[in-house]
Amino acid sequence: MNWKQLYKERLCTAEEAVNCIKSGDKVAFAHAIAEPTVLVDAMVANAKAYKNVEISHMVSLGKGEYSKPEYKENFRVNSWFVSPAVRGSIAEGHGDYTPVFFYEIPSYIRKGIFKLNVFMVTVSPPDEHGYCCVGVSCDYTMQAIESADIVLAEVNDQVPVVYGDAFVHVSKIDRFVESSRPLPELSLPHIGETELAIGRYCAELIEDGATLQLGIGAIPDAVLQALKDKKDLGIHSEMISDGVVDLYEAGVINNSQKGINKGKMVVTFLMGTKRIYDFIDHNPAVEMRTVDYVNHPVIVAQNTKLVSINSCISVDFMGQVVSDSIGITQFSGVGGQVDFIRGAAMSIDGKGKAIIAMPSVAKKKDGTLISKITPYIDKGAAVTTSRNDVDYIVTEYGIAPLKGQTLKNRARNLINISHPDFREELKIEFEKRFNAKF
Ligand code: COA
Repeated sequence: MNWKQLYKERLCTAEEAVNCIKSGDKVAFAHAIAEPTVLVDAMVANAKAYKNVEISHMVSLGKGEYSKPEYKENFRVNSWFVSPAVRGSIAEGHGDYTPVFFYEIPSYIRKGIFKLNVFMVTVSPPDEHGYCCVGVSCDYTMQAIESADIVLAEVNDQVPVVYGDAFVHVSKIDRFVESSRPLPELSLPHIGETELAIGRYCAELIEDGATLQLGIGAIPDAVLQALKDKKDLGIHSEMISDGVVDLYEAGVINNSQKGINKGKMVVTFLMGTKRIYDFIDHNPAVEMRTVDYVNHPVIVAQNTKLVSINSCISVDFMGQVVSDSIGITQFSGVGGQVDFIRGAAMSIDGKGKAIIAMPSVAKKKDGTLISKITPYIDKGAAVTTSRNDVDYIVTEYGIAPLKGQTLKNRARNLINISHPDFREELKIEFEKRFNAKF
């Protein structure tokens, strides 16, 4: 049967598609911008037909209705990253989180550690050869399509077509549901004086010809703004957002010095505004690859002068980095933080650097400020990046190099970049903790 007939045969309504889901199934979605909301909404509308369906994904930008307490008999969240949409279900006890390095998710799926009965994905309409493009999220999507018992696809004609490891033949998908909706857009972050200062310190660690990994939000965007006078930068990053487009268009990012994938920005997913979705559409300068390639420390290590920039919740005196929990509250996930920190450490040119950049203080719920540099990690918090892996910590007050430093020197370097209002208190804690003069 040719692919056009197959497509026609498998085309159905969202309501019909979600009838494939059975009680007790393990269902996963493509994540972030690629969440197939038409299918997810239909699944939630059909909730009464299911009991104990497990729902998994990385970042969720959707409504997360399946995680609400009224559906707890129908759906059970088992998230691989915790976003606001599902955070409540974990705190309330009926949802859960599985810690996992992002680069390992495809292998967990392949080995059946993450068993998928149903995978739901957003794709572009098929091209003349019968291939759909998975667009903005390659990461674990390609392996999930390969391994899931049943694949349901929302075919959205507004999904950009990207190049790389991002095409799936119609024959691999069991049900198609057509839609036409703009991709979700993120609002641009507010960049204040603190972020700009952090950006300038990070820029001091970035040489011409460096390859960058950046996360999302105000700090990565402020770093990008501080790089306007650099030359020949490259991108090998779990994700990119709008800020990268400015530097690419200004010729600062040209990927010309990269150790691998020279001439290309290599990315596994992206989130931003329509500007970046238009930028990547049919753009040979961007190569989307699966996360077990992009984030694999051994691949990361092959980049030239790699600099990874990520953020955290808090850092203790020894350099233990807490990035995904606030006390016992599971706030986000490890994502690709450790993948890149380890890749930078393994750099084959010996020039990799891993930065954790954060404001020196955070505002608690009651409005009081607390230092993000602390003598000890909070009770119940998880260490995301260990003291053995940590490299540089940057705040708006400077750079603390931690690699090769003794416990006391780590603490001294960190206290020197803490907020001045907390420094004296931290010095007293230092003297108690180490039984030594600051
Ligand atoms: N104690 C208590 N609360 C704290 C805190 C601390 N030490 N530090 C931050 N917070 C609170 C903030 O007040 C804020 O609360 P709000 O949501 O009620 O406003 C919240 O935590 C988020 O802080 P913010 O500084 O706005 O976070 P961010 O958007 O810059 O994200 C991380 C920071 C650490 C959560 C995020 O970078 C992350 O999840 N990292 C791990 C994954 C990763 O690095 N992936 C790789 C790159 S994609």
